[in-house]
Amino acid sequence: MNKIILSAMIILVAFVWQNAFASHASIYEPRVPEENLEEVQEIENPYPATEEQIEAGRKIFFGKGLCVTCHSKDGRGVKIPGHSPRDFTDAKWQEIRTDGELMWVLRNGSPGTGMPVRVGKVITENEGWSVISFIRTFSGK
Ligand code: HEC
Repeated sequence: MNKIILSAMIILVAFVWQNAFASHASIYEPRVPEENLEEVQEIENPYPATEEQIEAGRKIFFGKGLCVTCHSKDGRGVKIPGHSPRDFTDAKWQEIRTDGELMWVLRNGSPGTGMPVRVGKVITENEGWSVISFIRTFSGK
């Protein structure tokens, strides 16, 4: 019982903390720090978005990457306190971000938001590239 109360309090504090430091005004603003942006934007996905690659990414998204918990089945994202998960069906956002930037977020998380580090922690770099190819399919193109 005490454990439950303690967990609830930790979650509450985490959300208050996250809100207090949430500083990204627009979802279109880069998440990569200014000094690295140009370099990161040029990094390309080394794997072509073949059907197999997209399918591998789908498995990560719904499986061990745990992406679906926050980003939902349709990629629009669930409602969570603080920063909303990105709406992957947003065509403008899809166009603005390069694959290199998405990989940066998978490696570093999005500081000040609930987006956690994924690559190097729960998935490998190769799995990261496949899940990026899968995320691109939400744009409807
Ligand atoms: C605990 C919830 C949570 C999980 C799990 C999660 N995300 Fe996120 N994700 C977020 C939130 C919140 C944002 C919005 C961050 C922001 O606005 O900077 C986000 C943003 C993103 C972005 C957009 C970053 C940008 O540059 O705009 C990508 C790409 C992404 N997540 C991919 C993933 C992938 C792939 C996984 C699984 C491997 C995953 N996320 C798991 C919560 C989560």
